[in-house]
Amino acid sequence: MRIAMLGSGYVGLVSGACFADFGHAVTCLDKDSDKIARLERGEMPIYEPGLQELVTANAAAGRLTFTTDVAAAVADADVVFIAVGTPSRRGDGHADLAYVYGAARELAAAVRGFTVVATKSTVPVGTGDEIQRLIAETNPAADVAVVANPEFLREGAAIEDFKRPDRIVIGTEDERARAAMTEVYRPLYLNQAPMLFTSRRTAELTKYAANAFLAMKVTFINEIADLCEAVDADVQGVAHAIGLDKRIGAKFLHAGPGFGGSCFPKDTRALVKTGHDFGSPLRLVEATVAINDQRKRGIVRKVIAACGGSVRGKRIGILGLTFKPNTDDMRDASSLSIIQALQDGGAEVSAYDPAGMEAARTMTEGVRFGSDPYDVAAGAAALVIVTEWNAFRALDFERLKETMAEPALVDLRNIYDPREVARHGFRYIGVGRPASLDGTTVADAAE
Ligand SMILES: NC(=O)c1ccc[n+]([C@@H]2O[C@H](COP(=O)([O-])OP(=O)(O)OC[C@H]3O[C@@H](n4cnc5c(N)ncnc54)[C@H](O)[C@@H]3O)[C@@H](O)[C@H]2O)c1
Repeated sequence: MRIAMLGSGYVGLVSGACFADFGHAVTCLDKDSDKIARLERGEMPIYEPGLQELVTANAAAGRLTFTTDVAAAVADADVVFIAVGTPSRRGDGHADLAYVYGAARELAAAVRGFTVVATKSTVPVGTGDEIQRLIAETNPAADVAVVANPEFLREGAAIEDFKRPDRIVIGTEDERARAAMTEVYRPLYLNQAPMLFTSRRTAELTKYAANAFLAMKVTFINEIADLCEAVDADVQGVAHAIGLDKRIGAKFLHAGPGFGGSCFPKDTRALVKTGHDFGSPLRLVEATVAINDQRKRGIVRKVIAACGGSVRGKRIGILGLTFKPNTDDMRDASSLSIIQALQDGGAEVSAYDPAGMEAARTMTEGVRFGSDPYDVAAGAAALVIVTEWNAFRALDFERLKETMAEPALVDLRNIYDPREVARHGFRYIGVGRPASLDGTTVADAAE
């Protein structure tokens, strides 16, 4: 199949490279000419494990090419994917569809022969109808079928997710489109990935329902974590025990500083807006959005408490800036609210992240970026783990203690055993840990 991918960001580039790896001929397009120039030089514009090798191999095999020229990408394509951004619209939280509609108009003028237009971008219910209308308006002769094909990959494990998806959702009632999409995903179908054909609107809503459900699950365990702190219970134990129940499942039950990232915050807001627009409010999702917003700001109280009630004039070291490990994506990362709140409290912030510092430099002010965890810890009154990169899972506490002003670890991802940290003479503050463990000191640990 000949595939054009409009938008070569986290989703477009990964999907394009994976489709090429299946043997399709793929052209990845972006209107950002710097991004395309870098890709043509073999440089990855994003950090995603395994992507460099996948892109290099498929480009070398001639199956993956890059361009800024819409006509060249689209004219001979059997399927044109739209994978451009759908950020939150300022003000009302609705998905901003300007990039999607822009791409639809551009492709409409360039299509030749029957072409499937498949939307991979996360778009509100009814967007497919509007894309179809826009294409017909721009080019009445165009023979296109607009399909909703939401993408469920996770950054940090994107290639694995794309190649081994839990399911593929294809929203179309057009037989020609169904045949083309089956062909596009045939290699996965052979691997037993269930391919679900639905109506276009069902597919569009499915993506939001999935993300909102996961965001609710995270928010639920975060609230349980707060209750654990109040009643002297351990959220790690609760999460483990309820997660073993197959009806609940163990994933997305990790208490922490609140969800962030390029999808959950904007998608929950957009779904809330859709609910209001259609007179069918989603109160659980509304509560999720409000609780999470509050949490991202409020979690900083743990750091303040660890510093004896004030961070004014103190240096605080931050480990991890990206919204999760194994990505360089800083969009809506919890670290941003935490850093701002610490600075508002008068702290001097130093930070380290294995992949996110380049982006973080443009999104923060007054932060000193360190070269490693030990550099960041120098002179710090507390070290705060915000993102659970593997590089932070085996810190040398003796070395940290030598360099910190006060040995205090605020572990917002619960990656350490409080007793183990305390044995090194550290004060440990986790999330949802019992009071008997939280704030553990050497003396407590010895008991
Ligand atoms: N990032 C994820 O983990 C993820 C997962 C599933 C779904 N999604 C959804 O996929 C969509 C894309 O997300 P992303 O994270 O890849 O975004 P991104 O910002 O990384 O990439 C979007 C790209 O589209 C380009 N673009 C915009 N308009 C264009 C046009 N008219 N023609 C060509 N290129 C154009 C931009 O320059 C940019 O490079 C969003 O709707 C998002 O919600 C994202």
